[in-house]
Amino acid sequence: MGDLKPLLAVLSGEARAVPPLWLMRQAGRYLPEYQELRAKAGSFLDTCYNPRIAARITLQPIERFGFDAAILFSDILVVPDALGQKVWFESGSGPRLVPVESDAEIAALAESFDIEKLSPVFETIDRVKGELPKSVAFIGFCGAPWTVASYMIAGRGTPDQAPARLFAYRRPEAFARLIDTLVEASAAYLIRQIDAGVEALQLFDSWAGVLPPSEFERWVAEPLKKIIGKVKAARPRVPIIAFVRGGATHLAGLSERLGAQALGLDTAIDPAWAAETIPAGTALQGNLDPLALLAGGAALDREIDAILRCFSGRPHIFNLGHGVLPETPLEHVSQLAARIRGTGN
Ligand code: CP3
Repeated sequence: MGDLKPLLAVLSGEARAVPPLWLMRQAGRYLPEYQELRAKAGSFLDTCYNPRIAARITLQPIERFGFDAAILFSDILVVPDALGQKVWFESGSGPRLVPVESDAEIAALAESFDIEKLSPVFETIDRVKGELPKSVAFIGFCGAPWTVASYMIAGRGTPDQAPARLFAYRRPEAFARLIDTLVEASAAYLIRQIDAGVEALQLFDSWAGVLPPSEFERWVAEPLKKIIGKVKAARPRVPIIAFVRGGATHLAGLSERLGAQALGLDTAIDPAWAAETIPAGTALQGNLDPLALLAGGAALDREIDAILRCFSGRPHIFNLGHGVLPETPLEHVSQLAARIRGTGN
């Protein structure tokens, strides 16, 4: 147990004096070296499906900041792509999809699921694993069914996922079919990521916070539990982090219900509440405000220290409460890493 990588040790329930550190969206636009490779690769999806370039991008933040984990460079919307839905990214306006609508369109997705379409992702994993420093853990991921479905229905990002929420109220059976298809495809995809070489998984439910409790239960908690059950049945030892953004008080008993080893905490969660309420065996990941990182200075130090204080003595992975913002200065990320490791002032 003593020779586990720090991130994996924490996921196994160990508290460390210096928490392992990685950041959601650590491979992305705030890095000039990302911008450079991204410009060479063509579209964003072409970048995700280019194993040589995606592997380089995965490693960039490790090389620059020495984070304790690398997260696979890809996107949650490769799953709809493999289900046969048309997906593309427009610079400036984010993801676009041809919305799924009719029962027939929803039924056709499961039929057309082609996991081999994702083979470049598995090749990326294979390339990265040979190049990671010994102490750095490798995290695979997928989007949770609710979050992915919300983009599949709307066909684009929206402020509140109203199109999918309305769809789920009006046509719960059709929506359940879509969610079931995503459960099956996501579980198969995660198992293949494990077989290719990732050592931990994160499930992103970025839009869980827009649902009332009954809908949360049906579209967030149940599908996540099913995916984790399937992955654990096939590959029991790989730890799973559930990032249920906006999960609020649902987080209290969620890790045991889902069978997850860690919960990702968003920025709005009070770390003192989480440390007190969530069982001590569950690792907690988070939850610095991405805007505090962007702001830097004394405010950044103060926020970091408050989080460290609340989680000291329990298994904790330092991270943001959501992804790194593209405008974030590189020096602020260095300031963060130095302060966590006690090498700053
Ligand atoms: O975290 C990492 O560094 C690994 C790679 C990763 C990306 N997206 C790369 C990306 C991961 C884990 C994701 C997850 C993801 N993708 C989520 C869940 C987490 C979250 O942020 O809530 C969601 C909802 C998506 C869908 C998505 N992809 C959106 C809404 C957008 C546009 C908004 C934005 O931030 O640009 C993307 C594009 C995207 N995904 C970029 C990157 C680096 C920017 C694309 C570019 O280079 O132009």
